[in-house]
Amino acid sequence: MSDTRPRRTFAVISHPDAGKSTLTEALALHARAINEAGAVHGKGDRKATVSDWMAMEKARGISITSAALQFEYRDHVVNLVDTPGHSDFSEDTYRVLSAVDSAVMLVDAGKGLEPQTLKLFRVCALRGIPVITVINKWDRPGLSALELMDKIEQQIKIRPTPLTWPVGEAGDFRGVLDRRTGEFIKYTRTAGGATRAPERRMDADAVEENDRQVWAAAVEEHELLELDDADHDQERFLTGETTPVMFASALQNFGVAQLLDLLLELAPAPGSTEGVDGSSREPGGEFSAFVFKVQSGMNSSHRDRLAYARIVSGEFERGMVVTHAGSGRPFATKFAQTVFGRETTSVEHAYPGDIIGLVNANALRVGDTIYTGKAIEYPPVPSFAPEHFMAASAGDIGRYKQFRKGIEQLDQEGVVQVLRSDLRGDQSPVLAAVGPLQFEVVEDRMLHEFNSPIRFSRLDYQVARITDAAGAAALAGKRGIEVLQRSDGTHMALFVDQWRAQVTARDNPEIMLEALPAGGA
Ligand code: G4P
Repeated sequence: MSDTRPRRTFAVISHPDAGKSTLTEALALHARAINEAGAVHGKGDRKATVSDWMAMEKARGISITSAALQFEYRDHVVNLVDTPGHSDFSEDTYRVLSAVDSAVMLVDAGKGLEPQTLKLFRVCALRGIPVITVINKWDRPGLSALELMDKIEQQIKIRPTPLTWPVGEAGDFRGVLDRRTGEFIKYTRTAGGATRAPERRMDADAVEENDRQVWAAAVEEHELLELDDADHDQERFLTGETTPVMFASALQNFGVAQLLDLLLELAPAPGSTEGVDGSSREPGGEFSAFVFKVQSGMNSSHRDRLAYARIVSGEFERGMVVTHAGSGRPFATKFAQTVFGRETTSVEHAYPGDIIGLVNANALRVGDTIYTGKAIEYPPVPSFAPEHFMAASAGDIGRYKQFRKGIEQLDQEGVVQVLRSDLRGDQSPVLAAVGPLQFEVVEDRMLHEFNSPIRFSRLDYQVARITDAAGAAALAGKRGIEVLQRSDGTHMALFVDQWRAQVTARDNPEIMLEALPAGGA
């Protein structure tokens, strides 16, 4: 391999407004962005309302799209994979999580654990992704640090192991106690936090007079934590039993350099990945990658399709011909780019852990594997339990062809799940979503991108279960149940309510009824 610098590939996840965009900017500021972060969106873009999202979706801003920012830090290459913020796009966030090796969870010190925080922690646990927790906004009044630790332990059932401990309560952020060295890292505020915030490390006996009292309080709490077995343990972090915690103010750049240092030190490097047949590829092996996100219409002048792939093994070289595992067909990677926000850069070489955007990737779908050499296929990217269902039809019958094409495209991108049945016919598929805002995205894109207005009629289902062909046959015609099929062939049984699903499972133990992981709001 010509670029042997170690990689770290991670995502920042949080409940909206916890400071993800602010932290992303701060991280880019501390590091040297390889693929320029000029595209990191400005403050004005952040406060997105539903209508802003639609406009941003059209302009392909990063609040909805997921791409990666690549930067260099201390001889490492860091890939920060962007995730959408709003809970209705959580399906997208979950897919992104299949492409990272670790996650940084931001918690708002004032708000504590919020619904999306809990959900995302669950998904990380499900996928075995180690999580570093950053308590953000410590410059503002908030909960006590011990109380926050307690909430993490009680509500998430993961042991917090703080690596730093705040000196000064929330709203009076003087610095942090480095729990591994016992030093005081003192921060100095800069105007607006616009540049790298100066920090000074000092021994306990060098702590200045006016910091002494808060320092003593921090030391006392640190000792309590020591007694409580809350010290970092790398093994337990990697298996998801513990989460290292640090305290920060992304806005003032406090703790940002420490977070980068921690990522290099603790977060796992890309490792070997297992295929569906149990064989696996080491990063140093031949090239392989999987697609975790597909997007069309990046360029409004011609319709192209961009497939974001995470490289699992080997070296990617632009122009190389790879095999598409699903079809066995060759795929020429004539154009590849890295994309962050609205900026794109052509990519010549990429390595395990890197994210590439493959242009004109019309054959590629979410979850697909591409490789060279011996065949390998990675497990499908997980889908989550839809909780909202709409019967869709063409709003303008004269545009049925466009309607069909649009639905097919949105299905392949994973914007919604598309379910069909002989009974409903091709003209009226059922769209299933984790969050209702997904339907608005469909409506908007159908109209503007595919020139076909869409008509929805709400269906009264609340629960979906995966079944097989035998189950589909057994459930056909039962009251309050409808069985449909996803385009990947999976049978889905929809139930009017939880009760019906439970009774059906209880009375028919021979029928396969498998729940998908919950993702909904
Ligand atoms: P998000 O991407 O997770 O949704 O959050 P974003 O970075 O947009 O931050 C949400 C708000 O929180 C922003 O305020 C941002 O300036 C603020 N913020 C982020 N990090 C910190 C921090 O460490 N300390 C403080 N005090 N604030 C922080 P905003 O858009 O200006 O609006 P408002 O919420 O202040 O009205």
